[in-house]
Amino acid sequence: MDRRKFIKQSCSLCVLASSGMLAGSLASCAAGLQVYKTKIAGKKITVPISQFANSDFRLVQPENLFYNIGLKKEKDGSYTALLLRCTHADNQLTQTGNGFKCTLHGSAFDQEGRVITGPAERPLKRYSTEVVSGNVIIHLTD
Ligand code: FES
Repeated sequence: MDRRKFIKQSCSLCVLASSGMLAGSLASCAAGLQVYKTKIAGKKITVPISQFANSDFRLVQPENLFYNIGLKKEKDGSYTALLLRCTHADNQLTQTGNGFKCTLHGSAFDQEGRVITGPAERPLKRYSTEVVSGNVIIHLTD
């Protein structure tokens, strides 16, 4: 790409971003994620089971917790809750098709939180869960 074309394309992106069009298109990309935003109450997070009507996985974003929690419905009806904090150097993990990855140094974890690729050596933090009155309760214990 020649210099003139590069500058022209870069300026077009700046105009789009400043007009909010880029932000709108990025938001529509994020709309495909299964995200549930909630609050922590008494070291517990409550997620309605109805959130799993169309998917076996929900990304949970607690209001006062820096990291997201990956909540997965298992075949036996139980739920697995994993703290999506990389065990190498505490970076937020992102969901992949078959687990989670860390964009900082490349660690990867499977859906059960086991390390697939280092440098991380320890599995992800797992929280206990229970189903009560149509809700999944995640217990935020140490
Ligand atoms: S912080 Fe995740 S691999 Fe280093």
